Amino acid sequence: MIDKNILREKILKLKEKNNAIILAHNYQREEVQDIADYTGDSLELSRTAATIECDIIVFCGVNFMAESASILSPDKTVLLPEIGACCPMADMITVEGERHLKTQFPGYQFTDGYRYPADFTLKAIKKLHPGVPVVAYVNTTADVKAESDICCTSANGVKIVESLGTESVICIPDRNLSAWIAKNTNKKIIAWDGFCHVHDRVTPDDIYRARAEHPKALLLAHPECRIEVCEMADHVTSTSGMIRFATSSDAKEFIIGTETGILYKLRKDNPEKTFYPLRKDMVCPNMKKTSLYSVLHAMETMTYKIKVPEEIRIPAKRALDRMLAI
Ligand code: 13P
Ligand code: SF4
Repeated sequence: MIDKNILREKILKLKEKNNAIILAHNYQREEVQDIADYTGDSLELSRTAATIECDIIVFCGVNFMAESASILSPDKTVLLPEIGACCPMADMITVEGERHLKTQFPGYQFTDGYRYPADFTLKAIKKLHPGVPVVAYVNTTADVKAESDICCTSANGVKIVESLGTESVICIPDRNLSAWIAKNTNKKIIAWDGFCHVHDRVTPDDIYRARAEHPKALLLAHPECRIEVCEMADHVTSTSGMIRFATSSDAKEFIIGTETGILYKLRKDNPEKTFYPLRKDMVCPNMKKTSLYSVLHAMETMTYKIKVPEEIRIPAKRALDRMLAI
């Protein structure tokens, strides 16, 4: 086992030598967040990836995030330290062809035989609703973005939907974010049936229990949680939205309804406040794959390079750029 300080020193040296920048999502391991130049939510990291001056971006997150960085900054080398770090929700929608759930989610109970028909694809749903724009959550693969009109993140979903000039909008792939958007807009939302297994497992019972244990705490929920959970929360927002809310709030205690990796920054930025996880098992195994060791390995071997083919990158960039312009 190599000492963490040695790993950190080696990473810092290579970073300087190769003009590299490390980006880490708020759900990453503590030691990975500590080594990063920037931490943030999906929207902030996309904006940083689009504007940062460097030769190499080491993206500590999951594959769709590194793909977005590569789409926005094609001249930079984008490295994903763990090639298996994926987002099962992003894999719940494909442009065309057969698709099925490949992943077993630890701790997640499927409701009565969850199934996707083989013809349930993005192209099929577009055909059913001609002329209706598609809003793709950034948690999608590059080819799905390329087939969509505009992207959104958990921080700007309502704003993006409201910016479109139609009465109906197709929202993919998260049924829970779509339900939250539908609640906050007058537009008709046609929702895909995907979900994040980390957030979708939270139920109202978890909220009753947490509130009973911490009666003075405010409850913050991520919009990837089910609508009945979001409706019971004091505030619904993205991961960085939670950090901003907790930092500026007068409250002293917070129950946090998202992946537990965010507790590290919340506690670091607000040492005088107390944060409780809504459920201790809100852990995304894919977000936890990246370690200091994998970051060093990525920089030493220049792996794994994420590059999106131009015929997909250009339309996918259009969808991301439209979002970033709003
Ligand atoms: P945000 O950081 O954008 O809130 O996203 C949460 C998430 O699940 C990313 O995979
Ligand atoms: Fe995907 Fe959920 Fe993990 Fe985010 S927390 S990467 S949405 S599985």
